[in-house]
Amino acid sequence: MTSPAAETNNAPAIEVDDVAFEWSPEAKVLQGCSLAVYPGEFCMLLGDNGSGKSTLLKLLTGLLTPQTGEIYIGGSSGYVFQNPDHQLVMPTVGADVAFGLVNERLSLAAVRSRVSEALAAVNLAHLVRRPIYALSGGQKQRVAIAGAIARHCDVLLLDEPTALLDPDSQIELVTLVKMLVQSRNLTALWVTHRLVELDYCDRAFLLRDGRVIDQGDPQRMRTVLEE
Ligand SMILES: Nc1ncnc2c1ncn2[C@@H]1O[C@H](COP(=O)(O)OP(=O)(O)OP(=O)(O)O)[C@@H](O)[C@H]1O
Ligand SMILES: [Mg+2]
Repeated sequence: MTSPAAETNNAPAIEVDDVAFEWSPEAKVLQGCSLAVYPGEFCMLLGDNGSGKSTLLKLLTGLLTPQTGEIYIGGSSGYVFQNPDHQLVMPTVGADVAFGLVNERLSLAAVRSRVSEALAAVNLAHLVRRPIYALSGGQKQRVAIAGAIARHCDVLLLDEPTALLDPDSQIELVTLVKMLVQSRNLTALWVTHRLVELDYCDRAFLLRDGRVIDQGDPQRMRTVLEE
């Protein structure tokens, strides 16, 4: 089953076409790996530890280059890490979201307006002056997402963003991303091991032996993986 977005004739917002990537000849990670995520879709990527999910996201951000094959992202992308402490660099919430805008040649007023709009989108407007160290894990992940929204990213790439969160914060975060994708017409690729999250996405991909071996309806994927 495909989601409505995939049934249109839109070009993909994220496309991986027959990609091979190896760290070294002894450490081949991806081989013949292909997937497409369409504009407005919220897709999840599953696979065992070491199957290459994080490597694939790094290829999508351009941090790595494939040895063969093509990578395409339509628009600008924002990357959310598993551990927000590796991502948030400024002392306060507002300063961190503003930091991502330093290269955009915006006026101070425009920066302020982007920051407040992005924090409102992730329900953190009241914490703009809060020190980062005084946030919960889920709040930190929402600050990271606000950074991408402030930069007007079209595509969100999230690598196990709930791995360090308790179940309540986990569901809060996945619900928020689903809502943001819908309300802002974003496209998101979310890596996870936690099958309950599949309930929130449009389509899922399973990475194994270096390539996508299964894709489609998240509920079917959940049943297959729970067996
Ligand atoms: N910088 C690196 N140098 C060499 N090998 C690496 C490097 N980073 C990852 N690898 C190897 O590439 C393979 C894929 O790693 P990757 O982190 O992409 O897996 P993953 O699917 O994200 O796993 P996990 O579920 O544990 O996060 C693994 O065998 C890993 O050891
Ligand atoms: Mg990983």
